[in-house]
Amino acid sequence: MKKLLFLLILLSHTAVAAILPKPTTESYTGGNFIITDKSTLVYDSAVRDAATYLLEYLPFKRILSSQKIMAGDVQLTVNKLLDSEEYHLVIDSKNIIITGGSYAGVFNGVQTLLQLLPAKVYEKNCKLPVAVPQCNITDSPQFSYRGFMLDVARTWISADKVKRYIDLMSHLKLNKLHFHLTDDEGWRIEIKSHPELAEVGGFRGGDSPVFPRYGKFYEKWGGYYTQQELKDIVAYASKRNIEVIPEIDMPGHSKALGAIHSDILCSYTPDKSITNGLEIRNVWCAAKESNYALIEDIIREVSGIFTSEYIHIGGDEVNMSQWRKCPDCQRLKKEKGLENEKQIEDYFIARVSKILAKYEKKPAVWNEGIEGGLLPKSTRVHGWASIKKCLASTSKGYPTIIMPGHFFYFDMKQSSSEPGHTWAAIFDAKKVLSFDFAKQGFTAEHLKNVAGIEASFFSEIYIAHNPEKSDYLDYMLFPRLCALSEVAWSHERRSWDEFYTVLKESHYSRMDAMGVTYRLETPKVEYKDGKIYATTADNSTIYYTDTRTGRSSKYTKPIATSAPYAIEIQSFRGTGKSKKTGSKEYFARLKPAVTVTSSIPCSEKTPMANAAKYSNSIVRTTRAAKAGDWIEYRFAEPVSCREIEAMTGHIYLRRCNLLKGYIEVSYDGKTFVKAADFDVAGATIKPTAAVHALKIVATSNSDAEDQIVIQSLKIK
Ligand code: ACM
Ligand code: ZN
Repeated sequence: MKKLLFLLILLSHTAVAAILPKPTTESYTGGNFIITDKSTLVYDSAVRDAATYLLEYLPFKRILSSQKIMAGDVQLTVNKLLDSEEYHLVIDSKNIIITGGSYAGVFNGVQTLLQLLPAKVYEKNCKLPVAVPQCNITDSPQFSYRGFMLDVARTWISADKVKRYIDLMSHLKLNKLHFHLTDDEGWRIEIKSHPELAEVGGFRGGDSPVFPRYGKFYEKWGGYYTQQELKDIVAYASKRNIEVIPEIDMPGHSKALGAIHSDILCSYTPDKSITNGLEIRNVWCAAKESNYALIEDIIREVSGIFTSEYIHIGGDEVNMSQWRKCPDCQRLKKEKGLENEKQIEDYFIARVSKILAKYEKKPAVWNEGIEGGLLPKSTRVHGWASIKKCLASTSKGYPTIIMPGHFFYFDMKQSSSEPGHTWAAIFDAKKVLSFDFAKQGFTAEHLKNVAGIEASFFSEIYIAHNPEKSDYLDYMLFPRLCALSEVAWSHERRSWDEFYTVLKESHYSRMDAMGVTYRLETPKVEYKDGKIYATTADNSTIYYTDTRTGRSSKYTKPIATSAPYAIEIQSFRGTGKSKKTGSKEYFARLKPAVTVTSSIPCSEKTPMANAAKYSNSIVRTTRAAKAGDWIEYRFAEPVSCREIEAMTGHIYLRRCNLLKGYIEVSYDGKTFVKAADFDVAGATIKPTAAVHALKIVATSNSDAEDQIVIQSLKIK
């Protein structure tokens, strides 16, 4: 009886089959197959790695390389008549048979099988016997390139963490990791012929010539991957059907490198008078032959580490004013008959492409890389800046990876009150899933040149979120990456309602077992008749915190309060969590009339009045700050409030900050008293009386950018 009960429990999980991304066809024929101690995992020798991979999750007692199976066995086999990534998964009363067109197809089938098992299989301590629903699934991807770009240059993450994200990608059948290894803020790849690139360029702050940007201003911080670690990552990914495509971002985004090898930069004397002695140069000079020799040293080694067909060589956001000022680049332009600086970039990329060809690699570039019009159509283009740029690239005949920021940059905020960038859009998983080629103006002709879809995470903001400890990256990626997987894989994707049902009923539990801190949909909160009402649609548990006392409690019934502005709501479910939210009153801000002045002059385009608008308008100064500089906010009428947050720097990015300083307030309009020291860039004060004026005072120079940014106050 006990045994029967156990079996019934075992079988009951299989009621919902919710494969993510949605397979091409699936039918469930009723009944189950039971994997037992007696089941043998039988595999074709070509897919041995897929078998050992499956063994990590399912503890088969027997495993055998063979073509023959017996009743009760699970088989992984290749049929070359199928497309390479295609697979068939047949589960009947006798066997589980996964047939793939190649290793990749079999691996995809293994991922589907894992999703048919209890979610706990992802904890890797699944016990046999275990039931799987009988079914017949045929499946293949819409796009052969289903990518994710990870920026480890701005914020360093360890090789083990990279492997964890490779695992998480593989569960979603994503198959390309675009690995952004170098940028203005760091160089993360060991180059043995030039060890200083990583040994120095891998660390910023402290005594490093690479300046600390975006956070962790006071410590020397960072890391890099040795060639051996990178080879391990490549092999680890390859076993999981993921190709790692390295990016060495050139000729722009090379400030870290330029800080080590100033000889790569253009030769001209800058006018530093307007920038307080600072000068930011981050572009390789296109005219120096020695630069191409250094690039060849780098490419030779990169090509030896990575097995990918392509190497991404950047090409984005080149500050061409540096080439305009450089006599050597101008001479080159004339000599080669180049019409403009964009064609200097073409010349540079063509030279680097030639080096790549020598090492049997092809070039991939960001969308600006092809704008000079001279590059061959074999160049792969990553369309990031807009749909228009993606359309332009596909129209010109370049194989194009579609990754416009306003659908696929997962460093963007997921709602207005969460962390993240905003330059492209604010969007959640629902928007990702809504991406529609036809609606975005892609015709059948355009689609011929769509090589795939990619999400990306640039890590400027990550460094300010305690990257060693925080779950920020998980939270930014999941479930947006799940939606991306469905967009890139499924021929006919689910509606949002269907997709959300799959998340809630199946995939959240899988992510719990994977240990992913995914983002839950935001609870609905309303303040009515003296009570706060909070609801969720996902069975998560709601907690509320009184921000005045810091005390948190489980929400069991509407909260009676006369201070709705102080009540913060958040829901949790497994390892997932929602954003912190509240009623309308919680988000309310005071916007009293104020006049802003500063000892630092501002740029004409961004006047001081911007800092009085209580919007996202900012003031940019025309120089960096020195100790003693100040910003004063003087109110038209004294302001009674609970707190005032006074910050400098970009609203979402830790840059153009005052680093050290303090806030003083005036309660009489004349004398000022110190109210708080900075954390970084500003502070929040709790006034003890009505405030006439507030002053931010710098006690150190600013963060080595050539300007600072002045923001509006946030007053509650
Ligand atoms: C990019 O976001 N600059 C590729
Ligand atoms: Zn130059």
